[in-house]
Amino acid sequence: MALNITLRTRLALWVIFLLTVQVVLVLFVIQRQEVIAIEQEQTERGLVLANSIIQENTPLLVRYDYFALKENIEARIDDQLIYIIFYDRFNRPGAGNDFILTYDDIYQFSNLGEDLKSREPVVQPRQLLDADHNPLMNVLEIEAPIFPQDATDRWGSVKLGLSLEEMQAEVRRTSMLLLGIGVLGLLIGIIGAAWLARRITTPILKLVEGTEHISRGDFSLQIDIDSQDEIGNLAKSFNEMSRQLQLLQRRMEEANKRLIQVEKLASIGHISAGIAHEIRNPLTAVKLNVQKLSEKENLDESDRVNLEISQEGIAQIEKFIRELLNYARVSELNLDWFAMDQIIDGSLKMIADSLELKDVTVEKHYGADLPQVRVDADKVRQIILNVLRNSCEAVETGGEIKICVERTDTPSGSWLRTEISDNGRGVPRKDWENVFEPFYTTKASGIGLGLAIARKILEQHSGTIRVKSQEGAGSCFEILLPCEDEP
Ligand SMILES: Nc1ncnc2c1ncn2[C@@H]1O[C@H](COP(=O)(O)OP(=O)(O)OP(=O)(O)O)[C@@H](O)[C@H]1O
Ligand SMILES: [Mg+2]
Repeated sequence: MALNITLRTRLALWVIFLLTVQVVLVLFVIQRQEVIAIEQEQTERGLVLANSIIQENTPLLVRYDYFALKENIEARIDDQLIYIIFYDRFNRPGAGNDFILTYDDIYQFSNLGEDLKSREPVVQPRQLLDADHNPLMNVLEIEAPIFPQDATDRWGSVKLGLSLEEMQAEVRRTSMLLLGIGVLGLLIGIIGAAWLARRITTPILKLVEGTEHISRGDFSLQIDIDSQDEIGNLAKSFNEMSRQLQLLQRRMEEANKRLIQVEKLASIGHISAGIAHEIRNPLTAVKLNVQKLSEKENLDESDRVNLEISQEGIAQIEKFIRELLNYARVSELNLDWFAMDQIIDGSLKMIADSLELKDVTVEKHYGADLPQVRVDADKVRQIILNVLRNSCEAVETGGEIKICVERTDTPSGSWLRTEISDNGRGVPRKDWENVFEPFYTTKASGIGLGLAIARKILEQHSGTIRVKSQEGAGSCFEILLPCEDEP
């Protein structure tokens, strides 16, 4: 079965392995260097000691006063200096301390060769065994030739045995210290490796999570990595890709909605053409006959009232048909340059009676130097009239309507923004899009085409309309028309 080791673990294990190899190698080299240095120091000490012993005892050796030599030797022996042996020029032992006399193989044989001219000392390690042939101690054996003053030939030699116990204890101490440092270094290394692995893999895991989101069709996730390296660049590209995908998705959704709207429009147009055809002719006949009847002079009062009600009903049906056809018809725009404030003022005049009836106050804020817009003035007036009428219908008696017109510059271009707000009952959040749907109405006598027609006309002008409203606190309709450069 394949072992599923995570990237983080694998990375950490590799770093720890490399670190261990490195620490072991470094410690090994340091330890070797230390041993060599201690050995050298010991050798130098031994040679200095041998020299001083030679200086001290050469006269005795020259006189063959082995008895005095032995006394001097025994006085010199201590924990460090284990044995001293003097040899004559024929490499025969002359004097040695008592301890070494039992080691015949050391005592009897000089390490120097036959060459009496050579002034080179011989240095070699040696192991002393006890009576049971078990290792007793390690010594560094140094044998130096003795040349009395002006002598060209060797007179004899002195062999010293220096204990290596202390040196070995020091090497052991250093090794333990190095081992401690190594273990500590390794521990710090392991923690560092874990931290490093985490630091490297966390952004990668975030990227993986991001791709999983994308594969599920969720493009909203933005990866939060701001490191200035390849992974940071990858995250930036990833976020940019998500943003583009999100934009694309939104555009597709909008296009889809528009497609549905266009299909709806087409079917409404189809139906309304049918209705117009089927209803209009009989309705005209009914209207004419009702009018003829109402013109008769000998009608009693109740018949006249009934006929008036019928005429109102007919007018209502006519309005419905008219609006339906108006909505369904895609008529050419009659574009020209107009000032928005004049269109609004004209619309206000047209509904002045309704505003007065409800005692509605209108507050106007027109920005300075408003640009003219290239629009079909009749159609834009139709929009403003409907929005104003809706506001007038939404407010209580004595209500307020506020109209603001100003130029606004956004990254998507320059717009003329008209905001019409009122302090009426407002539109609930869930209906902000519904109010622009054809036939959406909350009014008993409404058709629900006013805002749908407004949106359609504005789209023809490459503009938009949207609602910002708080239920109970009034509503605000924002109309945006593109500002083109006047000729
Ligand atoms: N200023 C407003 N305050 C509160 N609700 C509003 C406002 N303007 C529009 N609405 C809501 O939006 C709905 C749709 O408005 P729209 O103008 O499209 O149709 P309508 O006014 O109902 O009928 P009509 O086709 O006769 O205009 C309204 O029925 C109303 O519920
Ligand atoms: Mg309306």
